[in-house]
Amino acid sequence: MANQPKRKGIVLAGGTGSRLFPLTIAVSKQLMPVYDKPMIYYPLSVLMLAEVREILLISTPADLPNFRKLLGDGSQFGIELSYAEQPSPEGLAQAFPIASDSGFLEKGDSSVLILGDNLFYGHNLVESLVRVSSLREGATVFGYHVTNPKDYGVLEFDEKNNVLSIEEKPELPKSNFAVPGLYFYDKKATDFARALRPSARGELEISDLNNCYLELQQMRVELLGRGTAWLDTGSYSSLLQAAQFVEVMEQRQGLKIACLEEIAFQRGWIDRTELKEQIVRLGKSGYSHYLRGLLH
Ligand code: G1P
Repeated sequence: MANQPKRKGIVLAGGTGSRLFPLTIAVSKQLMPVYDKPMIYYPLSVLMLAEVREILLISTPADLPNFRKLLGDGSQFGIELSYAEQPSPEGLAQAFPIASDSGFLEKGDSSVLILGDNLFYGHNLVESLVRVSSLREGATVFGYHVTNPKDYGVLEFDEKNNVLSIEEKPELPKSNFAVPGLYFYDKKATDFARALRPSARGELEISDLNNCYLELQQMRVELLGRGTAWLDTGSYSSLLQAAQFVEVMEQRQGLKIACLEEIAFQRGWIDRTELKEQIVRLGKSGYSHYLRGLLH
């Protein structure tokens, strides 16, 4: 175990966000607020909860400076954050050639890719993330029951519930199980991604990459149960609903979702002095007040 190469995390926060115009003309979608923190905190928290601490954030040349301003080198969250540009949005699978060409992903590295606009929350989620992250061979994706499968990658099952394929945004979905934007891969992902050809809509599809693993029978698919929330932020309504979900949970419990400093402090990745520095940096905000409470 000790000699196992680490799993590295990639957050893809590119795209034009055109479905949310005019909100996202001047500000990246993944920097939009989801209640009390920028959207990007939520996928970052998922990687941290999976105990992934080396993370590459990929975004557009125009938006990267703002991500750097917000997140810096990640040391305030006890992580190592680096950045790479996606010059033009040519599909999610492009994350792998970018991560490899930038030197972040080295031969032999396992990885986990999360989309910068996906929110996950739920009972037992952390345990399952840690378990899946410790697997080294093959890939793991998830399935989640939704009302609108057409908007996503969709699982096709046989009578024995084996997954046969993943179809990207099908006209006639073969099930209601969508594949959320969280993908665990072994070292083969970059080679598979480099061999992909653009789809009919001109993108290197993550579903095509996933189908490479399925064909080799090296894909595990885990269904996320009813107690898990996978929220999408692709429309005005879903963005608002995600914020309301976070508000309801946080106000009821008095515990924050995706508070990166809290996750780092609880795991011993930052100490009290470093936490105090963040409390000062965050000024008179409610977020800072919450962090102060962690000291006691
Ligand atoms: C992408 C993927 C799709 C996946 C979805 C999850 O779609 O292509 O397979 O189900 O993310 O959010 P997009 O949101 O980029 O249209």
